Amino acid sequence: MFEANQNSLEGAKQLDANCPLRKFRDEFEFPESENSEGTLYFAGHSLGLMPKRVRGVMEDELNAWGKYGVEGHFEGKHPWLPYHENITESFSRLVGGKTTEVVAMNSLTVNLHLMLTSFYRPTKNKFKILIENNTFPSDQYAVDSQARFHGFNPEEAVVELRPREGEMTVREEDLLAQIDEIGDELALVMLGNCNYLSGQCFDMEAITKRGHGHGAMVGFNLAHGAGNLVLSLHDWNVDFAVWCSYKYLNSGPGGMAGAFVHENHHGDASIPRFEGWWGNNKKNRFQMKRRFDPINSVEAWQLSNPPIFQLASLRASMEIYDEATMPAIRKKGDHLTSYLEWLLSENCGSFVEVQTPAFREDKQVRGSMLSVKMTKDPKQLVNSFKDKGVICDFREPDILRMAPAPLYNSYEDVFRLVQIIKDFS
Ligand SMILES: Cc1ncc(COP(=O)(O)O)c(C=O)c1O
Repeated sequence: MFEANQNSLEGAKQLDANCPLRKFRDEFEFPESENSEGTLYFAGHSLGLMPKRVRGVMEDELNAWGKYGVEGHFEGKHPWLPYHENITESFSRLVGGKTTEVVAMNSLTVNLHLMLTSFYRPTKNKFKILIENNTFPSDQYAVDSQARFHGFNPEEAVVELRPREGEMTVREEDLLAQIDEIGDELALVMLGNCNYLSGQCFDMEAITKRGHGHGAMVGFNLAHGAGNLVLSLHDWNVDFAVWCSYKYLNSGPGGMAGAFVHENHHGDASIPRFEGWWGNNKKNRFQMKRRFDPINSVEAWQLSNPPIFQLASLRASMEIYDEATMPAIRKKGDHLTSYLEWLLSENCGSFVEVQTPAFREDKQVRGSMLSVKMTKDPKQLVNSFKDKGVICDFREPDILRMAPAPLYNSYEDVFRLVQIIKDFS
């Protein structure tokens, strides 16, 4: 994919010059750094950088609040009452759902619980939940507590995927075989996509099909997938999904989360749901009726009127996504991540082992993050990063996670990062 002369600053600059998304870098503010060449930010899988246009949209809402007070719900450029609807079309494109299937609401773990309340409906014989083996702790706590809530012992009810001895990622055939093995006892498959630690992405369509084959519900946590992968949740028949927007989606710390519920489940009165007034039929919401009248879409899962400032920053960030488009972002992401992998192997191959699956043309097996095992002085390397202006993520004992974010990271950033790792050795 790359040629020897691209293992140079000049080569990296040339790749930037030819990059169709290069103009988007100027849309973002980079953290300050002691390094005169600027910050090398590779933590977009944790907290995305701030889009410059966020200041403007925040200012708009502060002005609307100052000018209109409560009337801001109906007045101004973007009235607050339907404000979350400003995000709907962008989310629909982002995850491949119908506009009735996606909504911006709450935060991630809250949405996960709301979805589990509706889609984890265990019975005496069908009560098992399949999750990743090394999933983010919040997901583990959520499923454990849901199992307990229904009277099951999580030790028995929550089954973790099993990678083979010595392997960090799970082979697809093993994953599908494990679904078959649990068989009739399987109530729910709830996987992340991508895995936060290894960067492995799963074949969501195949998993959904296999889970449904056993009468199970299938949902995904897209914390590391939304804004990173090209998704088709509706066509893949996924039952539900949740995601946050502060990582690849750059909406700011603690930003609004998203939820997807397949239209197959809308209007199904047999599905249990925790309810709040924002999920009530918009036509009579303000009649303050005693009984809940659900909106016939995923919006029925909304509880509260949403935080407008968080939605405003998300709106600014989604504008950038709509301009750049997800397929183009993924295309650059694949190339940039492969560039990082190639430079690491050319320059640091003796002490760096990439754990994330290798790029494949035929399916998305990874996004824009490389999880790398450092076999030499990982802690010292990470300690040296601060002075060099590098921001990325270290997980004990020896894993470095680096996300070249296609909207704002350049090939030059990637080249400079690898030089720092190489020079350290
Ligand atoms: C996979 C995954 N699940 C859950 C969370 C928790 O998110 P929140 O604090 O927004 O609920 C994170 C946060 O990084 C995550 O990566």
